[in-house]
Amino acid sequence: MIILKSAEELRTMRAAGKVVAQAHALVGEMIKPGVTTWDLDRAVEDFILKQNAIPAFKGYQGYPASICASVNEVVVHGIPSKDVILTEGSIISVDIGAFVDGFCGDSAWTYPVGEVEPKVQDLLTTTEEALFEGIEQARVGNRLSDISHAVQRHAEEQGFSVVRDFVGHGIGRQMHEAPQIPNFGPPGRGPRLKSGMTLAIEPMVNVGNYHVEVLTDNWTVVTRDKCWSAHFEHTIAITDEGPVILTVL
Ligand code: MF3
Ligand code: CO
Repeated sequence: MIILKSAEELRTMRAAGKVVAQAHALVGEMIKPGVTTWDLDRAVEDFILKQNAIPAFKGYQGYPASICASVNEVVVHGIPSKDVILTEGSIISVDIGAFVDGFCGDSAWTYPVGEVEPKVQDLLTTTEEALFEGIEQARVGNRLSDISHAVQRHAEEQGFSVVRDFVGHGIGRQMHEAPQIPNFGPPGRGPRLKSGMTLAIEPMVNVGNYHVEVLTDNWTVVTRDKCWSAHFEHTIAITDEGPVILTVL
């Protein structure tokens, strides 16, 4: 069942989204060679708690940290570590979730560390664009898979592949609500989109093929071919006036 949110509930989700966006602004300032993913996790967790918000990931199915920090061939769910030191030319996806007054915001962004190769910059630009192509389809009267199809089409047009094994999701009082939102598929399928739906749309796009595997820590997802991967995510609300992005400043 897809839970519709009232205007009042959307205002609370906007507050949660704002905390997540502010945490991203903090991360964006910190990312440079020599910083560890542990440092990023500490800073984000401190910030979220100071806002009287609750980190959404910590303890979720046993996840040990407040952010996911996924470097280069890590697709999602990289666990922050003092041993992962950012180096010039790398990329890092930082995924952040927070609860405010019982509602969740969830957003991921992939950041370049210093200067990256042109092909890598193309991956970042294309994945961000694919997210916005998906958001553009999040309109009353469209069907859910119109979002999926728009994401896939944009990523594949640019020669990249979209991950199949992980999906976006409804979001609200729970971080993960119905529906699941694949980043691929034909248009015109699935439930009709309604005003008051809140979705986390999150394309994961690979330079190589779309196959991924989970490491023995049972969290870290890497590309099978070890080519690099990018991940961008916003929490959005569907309204009669069109999609509204909640995870912005
Ligand atoms: N954005 C991710 C998701 O939607 C973050 C969850 S990480 C977890 O699943 F550790 F909390 F699982
Ligand atoms: Co998510």
